[in-house]
Amino acid sequence: MSDPVPHIRRAYPAREHSALRAELLAAVTPVLLGDVEAGEAARATFEEALAEVTGQRVALGVQSATAGLLLALRACDIGPGDEVITVANSDISTTAAISHTGATPVVCDVHPSDATIDPGRVEALVTPRTRAIVPVDLYGHPADVRSLRAIADRWGLRIIEDAALAIGAYDHGRSVGAFADAAVFSFSAYKPLGTVGSGGAVVTSDPALARRLRILRGYGAAPDGPVAATGHQSYVDEGYHLPLDGLQAAVLSVKLPYLSAWTRRRREVAAAYATGLRELPVNLPSFRAESEPTFRQYTIGVPQRDVVYRRLREAGVDAVLHYVPPMHWQPAYRGRDLRGSDRLPVTERLAARLLCLPVSPTLGAEDIAYVVDTLRDALRLTV
Ligand SMILES: Cc1ncc(COP(=O)(O)O)c(C=O)c1O
Repeated sequence: MSDPVPHIRRAYPAREHSALRAELLAAVTPVLLGDVEAGEAARATFEEALAEVTGQRVALGVQSATAGLLLALRACDIGPGDEVITVANSDISTTAAISHTGATPVVCDVHPSDATIDPGRVEALVTPRTRAIVPVDLYGHPADVRSLRAIADRWGLRIIEDAALAIGAYDHGRSVGAFADAAVFSFSAYKPLGTVGSGGAVVTSDPALARRLRILRGYGAAPDGPVAATGHQSYVDEGYHLPLDGLQAAVLSVKLPYLSAWTRRRREVAAAYATGLRELPVNLPSFRAESEPTFRQYTIGVPQRDVVYRRLREAGVDAVLHYVPPMHWQPAYRGRDLRGSDRLPVTERLAARLLCLPVSPTLGAEDIAYVVDTLRDALRLTV
């Protein structure tokens, strides 16, 4: 039997976009009715605004975060023979991007409090082949990238932060991405800043990296275009064609100014869950003092998770299990024997209990109370 249409959703693009109807139509119309340059201009405008919001010198709109991770790794010259340290509790995009460069993912355990990489366990995984670290800001929780920076600098490693879920989050008073060589955001529909299809961005303050990213995003063509005197193409690399679509960029430019208000509201929803759930036998997330997370979802630990999950879904709550099973147990990695995967006790413990509750800035007190009450009933059924 399939689930009912969720009563409490993870995202409400229809509500959000209806409220911004006039602004959105004004932004997409010139792209829709204009010439090719109009889409390019819409992308450039969004990129400038995103660089400003994230405190980086350059933002490059790309087709998705999956694409952004691949481009960023390749721009750092990660390739065959290299190892990249990451986590097993992520979307497959993270490890797959590493493998797609020809490099090998190595997995590190995480903190039980916020489910992000544990920097104290990273150095034991470094070998002469290690080239980079890809921390993941899971659920919108900033990984401790400042601590990783010290490790990376000691060993000459790059850091590419998978901030797909974390636009709007801060750490040490700076936007996520500030301590990385490059950070990657996703703008697909369920993300804290969602467009109407796919979208992503890579941000960096390293001009050389930005140049390489531009080249790889645009087929591998020299950034200055065809040789002026002859009109001949100049391909300086084997690249991809993965720019952010102009229409998506126009939508994102309208929504970006609302991000900080939406992030505040996401934190209020998370705080309301924490208050509502405090008497229940569940584990709540907790954070380093410097961490200012956003909440793409509110992720807790519960006993008899699969029973509780089914009960919530049957009651119309769009709960999800991100990411269960962890990557080293997925069929795609069967027989691959990911290095580090024999030492992931926290990752495995979290995967057995985690439950992601919906968070959207548009959820009201009644919606949150409904989720809390449904969860309380579901937990009662498990004792
Ligand atoms: C941690 C993480 N990284 C990367 C991605 C890929 O994002 P996209 O869908 O934009 O390719 C996701 C998708 O949910 C994700 O959760």
